[in-house]
Amino acid sequence: KIIVLDYGSQYNQLITRRIREFGVYSELKSHKISAAEIKEINPKGIIFSGGPNSVYDEGAFGVDEDIFKLGIPILGICYGMQLMSYKLPGGKVEPADNREYGKSDIHVTDNNTVLFKDLPADQTVWMSHGDLVKEVPTGFKTVATSPNCPIASIADDNRKFYGIQFHAEVQNTQYGHEILKHFTFDVCNAEANWSMNDFIDQQIAKIRETVGDKKVLLGLSGGVDSSVVGVLLHKAIGTQLTSIFVDHGLLRKNEADQVMASLEGKFGLNIIKVDAKERFLSKLKGVSDPEQKRKIIGNEFIRVFDDEAAKLNGIEFLAQGTLYTDVIESGTDTAQTIKSHHNVGGLPDDVQFKLIEPLRTLFKDEVRELGEKLGMPSELVWRQPFPGPGLGIRVIGEVTPEKLTIVRDSDYILRDEIRKAGLDREIWQYFTVLPGFRSVGVMGDGRTYDYTVGIRGVTSIDGMTADFAKIPWDVLQKISVRIVNEVDHVNRIVYDITSKPPATIEWE
Ligand code: XMP
Repeated sequence: KIIVLDYGSQYNQLITRRIREFGVYSELKSHKISAAEIKEINPKGIIFSGGPNSVYDEGAFGVDEDIFKLGIPILGICYGMQLMSYKLPGGKVEPADNREYGKSDIHVTDNNTVLFKDLPADQTVWMSHGDLVKEVPTGFKTVATSPNCPIASIADDNRKFYGIQFHAEVQNTQYGHEILKHFTFDVCNAEANWSMNDFIDQQIAKIRETVGDKKVLLGLSGGVDSSVVGVLLHKAIGTQLTSIFVDHGLLRKNEADQVMASLEGKFGLNIIKVDAKERFLSKLKGVSDPEQKRKIIGNEFIRVFDDEAAKLNGIEFLAQGTLYTDVIESGTDTAQTIKSHHNVGGLPDDVQFKLIEPLRTLFKDEVRELGEKLGMPSELVWRQPFPGPGLGIRVIGEVTPEKLTIVRDSDYILRDEIRKAGLDREIWQYFTVLPGFRSVGVMGDGRTYDYTVGIRGVTSIDGMTADFAKIPWDVLQKISVRIVNEVDHVNRIVYDITSKPPATIEWE
């Protein structure tokens, strides 16, 4: 395994991703990790990611310097290379005369260097930095240069320490893949022995070890993630797993029945279905702030669990379908909180379970691959993502039963038409929102003063970034006509044409 230390670069999750694509397990760890903890993990290599800091900033992220004594190969990327140069004797880092951002051409000056093995001497890379390494630390040599960055890559073959000032993990770096591959295989001697099947075996072993003969409770939300967790856990511990499917009244139309039929009917999970519609609605009454709504729904979810668990005997663990994207966007040591994701940020302090989150290191498409490997049917695995807080964050502002009906019914029509148009796999996620304001319209001979429904459709790979989907006009027109005709109190339809960023996918 290769670990990546997180210094806050927006690209850092891509590094772990690329290495996993090579068949080597990789995980992101906090930069605060100690040398002793790393020794325990015993990785084949360590990568210091990039980051927005300057090593001279107050509170700049540092490193446990004993890490340099472990005898484990290190690759520093951007800030990571500067940090190495700053911390190791003899190195010097300075602000650059010109900040460099974007494409740049480097020239490899040392043909023997392992990172650039068999690659052309001149190549295009992606730079993004304000500081520069001015002098290499003792034992290092410069192995590549660029016009604005005389020390673009450094190497110490004896200690197996390397640095690149550019970002090898992004597509814009011409030979980025190869450079990371050289580090992974030629420097670290990692073996390509990791695949989704290994992940399943590893997780099953890990779950069995963690759980022992204790019992686990799972919150099924109806979405892909918790369903995959359910099937995985069922495979690992069978009847030690009890699932609770909370119908919080914020689900899509017919969703509850479909989930029960598949997971209970086909896969044999032991599921307790709780009707908590009233409970959620009354907690949400009068609340219109999105973050507060998310927290309430998240907390209430756990409370319903607590209540159900209290009726069961000896439950010790709570399993959740938290994904890597949720972990990152809920704020880590280095990343800012964008939205507090329901299954991460909403946990109350007094929760009495220990958590099991077997998908915590995976991206959405990896979860789908996992689901397929577990033999789950494609309708379930390819179901579009659905947020934990459900329709509660698609009714903008205060949630009421009437408004929920409007979003639910309009969403059903949208899904029906998208499926009929054969677009359901192409569009990553599509749903309706109810902004909550009313406007004037005319129907028959009369004036109407009714709600506007927003349609959101996006294409994405992992939900981190997204483009609005170019749904054909005629499909949109059909959807618009049907919603206005079939859903009461709606007289206007709009289509959201923003990407993420700057917008997010959900409206709240
Ligand atoms: P945003 O709105 O943050 O959404 O661009 C990115 C993806 O995450 C889903 N999402 C959530 N999923 N719990 C979840 O399990 C949540 O609280 C949550 N909030 C957003 C969203 O539907 C999109 O797919």
